[in-house]
Amino acid sequence: MNTGPVSTAYYSDDELYASQLSPRMKKLSPMHWSPLEVIKTAAAFLSDKPGSKIIDIGSGIGKFCIAAAQEYPDCDFYGIEQRKDLHEIALLSRKNSPSELNIHFMHGNFTELDFSRYDGLYFFNSFAENLYSFGRIDNSIQYSAGLYNYYANYLYKILEDKAYGTRLVTYHANDAELPKNYQLIQTTFNDHLKMYIKE
Ligand SMILES: C[S@@+](CC[C@H](N)C(=O)[O-])C[C@H]1O[C@@H](n2cnc3c(N)ncnc32)[C@H](O)[C@@H]1O
Repeated sequence: MNTGPVSTAYYSDDELYASQLSPRMKKLSPMHWSPLEVIKTAAAFLSDKPGSKIIDIGSGIGKFCIAAAQEYPDCDFYGIEQRKDLHEIALLSRKNSPSELNIHFMHGNFTELDFSRYDGLYFFNSFAENLYSFGRIDNSIQYSAGLYNYYANYLYKILEDKAYGTRLVTYHANDAELPKNYQLIQTTFNDHLKMYIKE
């Protein structure tokens, strides 16, 4: 069984990172797990204050949280992931990470979570699997456009309820689905990575 990356070095290079994964996880890597340069840029924006709590909505195998936690040991990184097998890989990878203490993985649907405690959110267009059949992670879910809309509306409400100053980073997401009082601060990686602060 694959146990996930075992050292910080694997989080310095995407190919090296992928080389430690099982063939199935490796195949999913380019499409589903954030590139390390994207993670670094997103984490720098989200970790603006020591003690910040940052959540990755749909954390997959934990690449964002683990790589970000190594760069910002004075912040806490949380991930919520609906697929148990991915969550378990994230847990194993966390165990092998030197920055274990500031990484927290939860198994479940993001709709079950209380978002009031988080200062920053990272969102790599997690619900798009409901719209596009190409390159899906697996067939364990009943995908539908209706589910996409339900999740997108749910996230909109969460973002609406967040406090002034909340930081949000989206990757490959649709800005039209965000509340208007999230001000776009910076956009990079061909406009795929966007950083916002709630006004
Ligand atoms: C594109 S991957 C991103 C993984 C990780 N955030 C990263 O950047 O490497 C999106 C993940 O979101 C998860 N996901 C999708 N809908 C979800 C939901 N409603 N609740 C929790 N996780 C969800 C998927 O299972 C998938 O692992």
